[in-house]
Amino acid sequence: MKLFAIQGLKILATGSAVPDSTLSNHQLSEIVQTSDEWIVTRTGIKERRLLTGSNRSVIDLATEASLKALSKISMSPLEIDLIILATSTPNDLFGSASQIQAKIKAAKAVAFDLTAACSGFVLSFVTAGQFLQSGSYKTILVIGADVLSKWIDWSDRSTCILFGDGAGAIILQSCSIKDNQFLGFQLNTDGRQYKNLSLPYIDDSDPHTFLNIHQGSFNYIAMNGKEIYKFAVSQVPLSIIKCLTSLHMTVDEIDWLLLHQANERILTAIAEKLSLSTDKILVNVGRYGNTSAASIPLVLDESNEYGKISNNDVIVISGFGAGLTWGTVVIRWKR
Ligand code: ACO
Repeated sequence: MKLFAIQGLKILATGSAVPDSTLSNHQLSEIVQTSDEWIVTRTGIKERRLLTGSNRSVIDLATEASLKALSKISMSPLEIDLIILATSTPNDLFGSASQIQAKIKAAKAVAFDLTAACSGFVLSFVTAGQFLQSGSYKTILVIGADVLSKWIDWSDRSTCILFGDGAGAIILQSCSIKDNQFLGFQLNTDGRQYKNLSLPYIDDSDPHTFLNIHQGSFNYIAMNGKEIYKFAVSQVPLSIIKCLTSLHMTVDEIDWLLLHQANERILTAIAEKLSLSTDKILVNVGRYGNTSAASIPLVLDESNEYGKISNNDVIVISGFGAGLTWGTVVIRWKR
């Protein structure tokens, strides 16, 4: 997608947070009939972090990740104009971003949630980019955070092995066009396939006697694993190619491929479809599982911390998941 920008966008800082509690594949095999070997072979996941204890929610992880990002650049939270929280697991259906605004004391920031499951971070980054490049806002905190452990059927071995909890945050600021780091994007949705991955609301009570209103609750994550696998491996490379083509760039110019950390097999298959060396994949799914909207900023923060990414590296970021929704963002890293 061509960007109509009057300003550029730069990445000032990243931060991340995961719960302390670890669940290994061996521990999982005591809960459901599975094995470390089955899980590692099919997914590359060895362990995941889970938010345990009462009254803890996505807000705790998102707040910690945001404060870490702010402290890295000694930025006052009062400088933030907008907070976008990408999450599908808010602790309030009306949204959780405002509670994060209050917790980090970003009193001048507008705050809202954006729900797009595992594509949530990419969509939030693009949304933030529109506000920054049009000159509407100067500084934006984008958070990807999910606590899917609260929505998993822990007796369903086909889904419970995949997911973990976490949060990642990134602080973006407008800048001159010549320092711009956000090169372009490409986004897609196919609602016809929504049933392949959903967390459905279900009417499960008798209707109100007079009003005929049915009330219910949200169920567990439901997934057709094979269809999701096929979707990711076929559609994500197309999105990447379309995005690069629109920027007059080629796969050879990619320094790092930062994909939503769904499953290592999916990441490898996508790299192979692009004829890209698997050495260029940024990956940490083995330690955290699939953390939904958190996975991309979590890897970005780790890669940044470990000094893996160098000045001027081109990073191709793709998210994909429920909706079905998927998309790509291309950035140039600047230290
Ligand atoms: N341990 C042991 N056996 C299992 C497990 C398990 N945890 N889960 C399923 N099995 C069994 C099945 O019952 C089946 O047995 P059967 O042949 O006797 O019926 C057998 O293993 C094969 O099951 P499949 O579902 O065909 O396994 P598959 O090879 O497709 O792997 C997987 C399953 C890993 C889920 C794969 O389909 C996949 O990676 N899909 C993508 C899922 C994904 O990444 N989702 C999230 C992406 S989007 C987002 O992040 C929100």
